[in-house]
Amino acid sequence: MKSIGVFTSGGDAPGMNACVRSVVRNALYLGLDVYGIKYGYNGMIEGDIYKMKSYSVSNIVQRGGTILKSARSKAFLTEEGRKKAYEQLSRRGIEGLIAIGGDGTFTGANIFYEEYGIPIVGAPGTIDNDLYGSDYTIGFDTAVNTALDAIDKIRDTAISHDRVFFVEVMGRHSGYIAVHVGIGGGAELVMVPETSTTMKDVIETLRQGRNSQKTSHLIIVAEGEHQGNAHEVAERVRQELPDLDYRVSALGHIQRGGSPTSFDRILASRLGMAAVEGIIDGKKNVMVGVVDDKIVYTSFKIAISKTKPISEDLMRLSKVLSI
Ligand code: F6P
Repeated sequence: MKSIGVFTSGGDAPGMNACVRSVVRNALYLGLDVYGIKYGYNGMIEGDIYKMKSYSVSNIVQRGGTILKSARSKAFLTEEGRKKAYEQLSRRGIEGLIAIGGDGTFTGANIFYEEYGIPIVGAPGTIDNDLYGSDYTIGFDTAVNTALDAIDKIRDTAISHDRVFFVEVMGRHSGYIAVHVGIGGGAELVMVPETSTTMKDVIETLRQGRNSQKTSHLIIVAEGEHQGNAHEVAERVRQELPDLDYRVSALGHIQRGGSPTSFDRILASRLGMAAVEGIIDGKKNVMVGVVDDKIVYTSFKIAISKTKPISEDLMRLSKVLSI
């Protein structure tokens, strides 16, 4: 293999830039040509592709977002779109791809590989931490720290007014961010899609808190929670406890931005190196991950179809610490 392309796709995540940098520099170090593909699969279809040098990735290791830009491509879902993308790559002699993104990105990569046989190695980049085959995904640690910073501030005002706060955190179908900020931020309750918290549980938590002299409460609601978003959960609680003084705060896209933590920078750099070494070594149609601090490769099919369970120990810890 002489030439590879690298792109970021789906929701951006802090540390994607560190991964792009690592891919580019590892590829150059091993004598490959590297092309940056902008706007994910959309740029692949449109030919928004440029040759990258070592200096192309200078001064980005510390930056959030992605210099390659990102998109959730509708065009790539079509056969015609994928054909155009393949032609754009062939025209430039690009023989392999490194895809940095989440489950949508790898679903597309899997189809593309099956249709055109082009080797693709994925690096997990999503704040949701929802990919099987890696203990952590690029951006998760930064998102948790960003959310925690906000929650610490919310706690100050919650305590001052003796209020209940319902705080919604991101994670589409996954409660990883919620559980981690729940433990780190001292929440009374964490509501995640992986478990079935009832409205009775929520009300019971508030009653117990009052009985044990708590004057303010923090309830973390993952955005994919079955009982609804934080506003809906709060409204349902209010119907049962009409005098409740509560506020809702949905942290939103703030969790996707900012300078990556050292953990994310190092994870991203390791995954970038392993992705390039993997593709040179003949790996195809796989996602690289870190499991028990070791580099592992998992087929895209498994990475996107298997669910990574939330640790029962963490759920238990969160419950015990909230009494
Ligand atoms: O997958 C990352 C993520 O931030 C999810 O947590 C969230 O559900 C989704 O992306 C939001 O996507 P968008 O930025 O397209 O609204």
